[in-house]
Amino acid sequence: MFSKSFVFLLIVLVFETKCDKEKVFDSSDCDLGSLVEEIASYDKRVKKIIDYTLSGPFKGKTYDELAKFVDKFGARPSGTLDLEQSIDYMIDLFHNEGLHEVITEEVEVPLWERGAEVLTMYEPRKKKMEILGLGKSVKTPLNGLTAEVVVISNFTQLEETPDEKIKGKIVLYVPIFTTYSETVVYRTQGAAKASAKGAVASLVRSIAPFSIDSPHTGSQTYSDGVEPIPAAAITLEDADLITRLYNRGETVKVQLIMYSTLETRVSRNTLVDLKGKESPEKLVIVSGHIDSWDVGQGAMDDGGGIFVSWAAPVILNRLNLIPRRTIRAILWTAEELGLIGVHAYKKAHEDESHNINFIMESDEGTFAPLGLVANGNHKTRCIVAEVLKLFQSINASTLIESDSPGSDISIFTGTGIPGASLHNDNGQYFWFHHTEGDTMNVETTENLDLGAAFWTAVAYIIADLSIDIPR
Ligand SMILES: *[C@@H]1O[C@H](CO)[C@@H](O)[C@H](O)[C@H]1NC(C)=O
Ligand SMILES: *[C@@H]1O[C@H](CO)[C@@H](O)[C@H](O)[C@H]1NC(C)=O
Ligand SMILES: [Zn+2]
Repeated sequence: MFSKSFVFLLIVLVFETKCDKEKVFDSSDCDLGSLVEEIASYDKRVKKIIDYTLSGPFKGKTYDELAKFVDKFGARPSGTLDLEQSIDYMIDLFHNEGLHEVITEEVEVPLWERGAEVLTMYEPRKKKMEILGLGKSVKTPLNGLTAEVVVISNFTQLEETPDEKIKGKIVLYVPIFTTYSETVVYRTQGAAKASAKGAVASLVRSIAPFSIDSPHTGSQTYSDGVEPIPAAAITLEDADLITRLYNRGETVKVQLIMYSTLETRVSRNTLVDLKGKESPEKLVIVSGHIDSWDVGQGAMDDGGGIFVSWAAPVILNRLNLIPRRTIRAILWTAEELGLIGVHAYKKAHEDESHNINFIMESDEGTFAPLGLVANGNHKTRCIVAEVLKLFQSINASTLIESDSPGSDISIFTGTGIPGASLHNDNGQYFWFHHTEGDTMNVETTENLDLGAAFWTAVAYIIADLSIDIPR
């Protein structure tokens, strides 16, 4: 029997440390025969969807609805009443569009609430530093922890540092952002590893390529057999300041005060079906997560993702474009604290997983769409690449290969079920990710219209093709 936290650690390790070699798919040796013509024959319907969304009655609608939602609820952390009320609101929004096949499925989720968080450097000089506790971090004693900081660049260096140099100190990890999946391990595993060496708390340079002195939070996990210690992110600016002082041989001392509570609540995954007219049991899933961090407004992560996934069945229903297979929009709950909603869904729907024809997720921004990041065998990718050719007019024809695209859906795509995440022009995504800066100002009407049109038309074609997507 694994303990819950060990299973959770495994999940996080699989999800955070996958190191995909992502590259542009080369379709030169694809041979799809008559399927090429069949796919090309969707061009008029693609144009209809694009026109309806970019210049017709749906123009601006995705942004407007996202803004109304974000302005009404703001942050929607796992376990909160705000999240549950935002789920009820989305159900009404689907109903108002005549989509009545809506069900919710209950999931036990954590409610982790941060209280006061204060970090003050007082040696070699006094400076107050912005911090954000990491998900499910334990609190410090009431009057805080006062200790010296040890700066660590990477886990190899941590291992090589004698325990007595770490014991009783606060470890500060200062990895330089390369890619998210490569760098995020210092956030997710840093506290557990520092605690194993005797540290009393763990700080991490925010996992971001750019900063205006803003800390970025995110999930982290403790491991069995080591004392859980307080864990927080600090800004790039403060991390670099401490590193410079430390490298000059200065003793850096800080006081860290953190307070938080952790409880359990019930949340819901939301499933909305636009039933297929020939094979309703077969599914093409479009999805995003409705929960967010407690900082920021969850507009980008993942408000945009849930609203392009809301738009897909809505637009198809309005245009009376009903595909052969069912389009299921899913709003996952509790993604941020460890993909909790999607795991519950997978378990509850094990018996129909063979019916998932294709699973899509948008959770890396809804900037201008560029195409898809997809897994699957060679034929699958040839089909997806052929479908993407229909999106040259909006510059969204690129297919990137990945073994397990997506965040939530990676638990399906990682097992070989074909799927894709939205490939978009998201070079600035990690500027705003998990910060107070995740607001409506990151989103634009044009990009959400493009994203909604693209998402809707891709899902429609794949759900309507004469053949299933091969596994
Ligand atoms: C780890 O950090 C140390 C100290 O900064 C550095 O010398 C070493 O090259 C780093 N190792 C890796 C694998 O990056
Ligand atoms: C697609 O790219 C072309 C060439 O760069 C540009 O003129 C056009 O505006 C782009 N279209 C969209 C929808 O972004
Ligand atoms: Zn997200």
